[in-house]
Amino acid sequence: MPDPRPTPIPDSIERSKVPRHVGVVMDGNGRWAERRGLDRTAGHGAGEVSLVDTVYGALSLGMKALTVYAFSTENWVRPVDEVRYLMNFNQGLLQRRQHELHADGVRIVFSGRQDWRVPRRVLKNMNEAVELTKKNKKMTLNIAFNYGGRAEIVDAVRRLVSDKVSAARVDEKAIRSRLYHPELADPELIVRTSGEYRISNFLLWEMAYAELVFTDVLWPDFRREDLFRAVEEFQRRQRRFGGIVP
Ligand code: IPE
Ligand code: IPE
Ligand code: MG
Repeated sequence: MPDPRPTPIPDSIERSKVPRHVGVVMDGNGRWAERRGLDRTAGHGAGEVSLVDTVYGALSLGMKALTVYAFSTENWVRPVDEVRYLMNFNQGLLQRRQHELHADGVRIVFSGRQDWRVPRRVLKNMNEAVELTKKNKKMTLNIAFNYGGRAEIVDAVRRLVSDKVSAARVDEKAIRSRLYHPELADPELIVRTSGEYRISNFLLWEMAYAELVFTDVLWPDFRREDLFRAVEEFQRRQRRFGGIVP
């Protein structure tokens, strides 16, 4: 499907230094809605356009992976109506968008626990989207759904144990290869919207050396231009990985 809002990439972005993998904490939906006197759920709904626009922005930059935080292992404590809305909304979003994402070469995957709390029809839809798009190569859209960074590490350790890996053989590679998507490079940039300066259990292992960019923009107002700005900020950072700059 053609990009509904084709937008030139600013000259200030160096194309050869675009992060291969970016993670986004899509936060601020509730506040966006409350400021308009709307129900919090209206904010979640409005975030769909932001997500699609961000995916197009990432595609146009040539990014290889985009991980978006859609529902955390902690979000179950919200009022049942909001949780129910989010389950239905995420399912609907997949149904509405999977075909255009597929046509644009996006591979959809999920990170998170597919446990009993996620309604079976939602799981079914998730698996259909994964199946439909599994051969796509342009970019991976990794949806962190019922995701927690600690749960991911716990799940990796469980697999280490069930694989009978001896203590002497437990190293970073052994753990990393048992995370939800070891084929994805670690995110080089994490963006969080809504002016909150925290990680909230997102990609704890993977973000060890990610650059963090925080913006006050609320997620429903976020567009690809905001992604471009975050990439510009990333490109101004000096990455040292514990070393020194020669
Ligand atoms: C992010 O927006 C979406 C989810 C966590 C599912 P919020 O719902 O957290 O919005 P705020 O932070 O309350 O404004
Ligand atoms: C993080 O946002 C989770 C998602 C965006 C899905 P939250 O709104 O749940 O995080 P906290 O509670 O402010 O830390
Ligand atoms: Mg929030």
